[in-house]
Formats: sequence, C-alpha cells, structure tokens
Amino acid sequence: MNRFWSAGVADLTPYVPGEQPQMQRLIKLNTNENPYGPSPRVLAAIREALGGDADALKRYPDPDARRFKQAIATRFALEVANVHVGNGSDEVLANVFQGLLKHDKPILFPDITYSFYPVYCGLYGVAFENVPLTDTFEIRVDDYLRPNGGIIFPNPNAPTGRLLAGGEIERLLAGNPDSVVVIDEAYIDFGGESAAKLIAKYPNLLVVQTLSKSRSLAGLRLGFAIGHPDLIEALERVKNSFNSYPLDRLAQAAGVAAVEDEAYFDETRRAVIASREAMVTRLSALGFEVLPSTANFVFARHPLHDAAQLASALRERSIIVRHFKQARVAQFLRITVGTEAECVAFTDALKEILAG
Ligand SMILES: Cc1ncc(COP(=O)(O)O)c(C=O)c1O
Repeated sequence: MNRFWSAGVADLTPYVPGEQPQMQRLIKLNTNENPYGPSPRVLAAIREALGGDADALKRYPDPDARRFKQAIATRFALEVANVHVGNGSDEVLANVFQGLLKHDKPILFPDITYSFYPVYCGLYGVAFENVPLTDTFEIRVDDYLRPNGGIIFPNPNAPTGRLLAGGEIERLLAGNPDSVVVIDEAYIDFGGESAAKLIAKYPNLLVVQTLSKSRSLAGLRLGFAIGHPDLIEALERVKNSFNSYPLDRLAQAAGVAAVEDEAYFDETRRAVIASREAMVTRLSALGFEVLPSTANFVFARHPLHDAAQLASALRERSIIVRHFKQARVAQFLRITVGTEAECVAFTDALKEILAG
C-alpha cells in the first residue's frame, strides 16, 4: 500500500501469467502456445503493411479495425456489426466483464477454470459464484439453470481440456434467456465445434476467440467476440471509453492474413491434434490418468507421484509444464502440446523420472 494509490488498488489480486523464461534450449510446454509458427502469409502482410510507404507508422491505425472485423465476419458468415476485436482475448474478456456481466445478481463460472475471471471480477466489482465441476471435472448444465447475472466458461474448459457438447450449450442458452452466456473458445479449434452457429438463434450468446492458439499469434495480441449487435455495441462503448486504438496497424494486417489462411490453419491444428493423441497414449502407458482433451494441452495426474515434484524434476531437464496450486487440481500437470519431437522428449524424460 502506498499513499499515492487510488482506493481499491491494494485490494486487487492480479492475474499471474505462466512463466516466459529467457533460458535458451528449453522445451516450453507451460502456456499453451502453438509450437508451429503463424501462416507465412502473416509475415508477408506485416511486411506489406510496413513497406513501400516509409511513413506507414506515423498515422494512427483504423480505430475500428474494419478489415480484420470483416475477415472474421466472413469466416463465421456474420456481419461486421456482430464482431468486436481487442488486444488479445484477455482485453476482449475485460470489456465483457465491464460491459455485459455487471448486474444485481452474481455471475456464475466453474470452480476450476481460467483464473483470470475472478481477477476481472475484482477489478470491475462483479459479484460471482463458483459452480463446482463434477467429480470427473465436467460442467453440469443443470447447475447453471438458476437465477444469475451472467455465465462464463471456456469451452473446452481450461485447464481441464474437457469439452461441453453443443447440445448442452444450447440447453444452457435456452434455460437462461435473461442472462448473457459467454463461451470462451480459446481452444475450440483443436477438436470442438464452435457455438458461433447459434448466434442467429440466441441473442444472449457471446462467443470469444483468440488468435493466440490455433493461429499461432500469441505475440501479436489479437482476440475477438462475436454475438448479437446489441451485445457488441456494449463492448464497443466500453472499448471507446478506454482505448480507441487497441490494435496497431501491423496486428490488424496480420490478423486478416491469419484468419484468411484456412489451409495453413487446418494443417497446423491437425498436427497438434495428432501429437496430442499420441502423447495421451504414452502418458496413459506410464500410468497417468489423463482427462479427455479437445484443447492444445492435456491435464494429467499420476496416482503415485506428486505433481509439484514431477514439475520440478522436469524443469531440471529444461522442460517446463504448468502446475496449479489450487487444492482440487494440485496433483495435476497441464502440459501444452508441442512439436512431435518436444512431446516425445517430454514423455521420455517423464519415463526416466518415474523410473527413479
Ligand atoms: C481460457 C482462456 N481464455 C483466454 C485466454 C487469453 O488469450 P489471449 O489473451 O492470448 O487471447 C487464455 C490464455 O491462455 C485462456 O486460456
């Protein structure tokens, strides 16, 4: 606490992002980045946005990111009025908490979920209730059919990787006509089906996605929300009361190229899915319990070995995975799917560690 701080700052509990170590030659499986680079068209688009006109950067970018919004609208067969974009989906989510989730009743989200949600609640004064996942770490829709100020969860959930089926999402939407239901689809492209197709039917549905994972652009910070124009208008009002230019010129150009390169997107996500399935098989053979994953990570525990100790033994071998201290999941490791070679190096190292 400092006498110059605004009221409330001392009470904030900021989000702690996964480590971004500077060490060389590391197998980095801790923050769910894509092991493959972005589409080659992304780099070409950035060069083009920079090149030719040496003065390109002296002008402000398009505050409405119209070309990027149009590319997203086209991909999902929607209109630009259905699209909001931001500096990573974390910023989009911040706008969502501020613009759509602050009501008289508490909002609902799972007890085990993306740990940024309670942080935004703290920042914006949004009351919330945690809804426990089932014993098998699944979301049970019936638990969300009660009065609430809004609902949010990732699908597939993080850090479990478990997917809620499309039919269940529709039951949730139909059962909550007076609440905004936010589906955070950061990992949907690795095996799930987006709820975006339900947008025309449900004005209370907001889908949030990111280009950080399946489009390999975590370093550029691009995210978006799609939904009914009335929901989008709230997000635009919040954004334009905070920062008119959240996406710079280069990020906007890159975003268009990434969204339009469907072939590269398909090729890389298929590679990630194949490596995930092979890694699950090897982990199971080593005695791990692995939750079914449709994400670019797996969540696994061993009945005989402490997760924190496994994480530190891996680190000694220059392999970094994520371990959460929250009691219910403290015996799990969350492992990002890397390249096939990285995944094999990871399970080989585990085999050695387990053998003592
Ligand atoms: C569930 C979930 N939502 C949103 C994000 C934020 O992604 P970004 O801000 O990179 O778009 C993450 C990042 O890991 C995530 O796990």
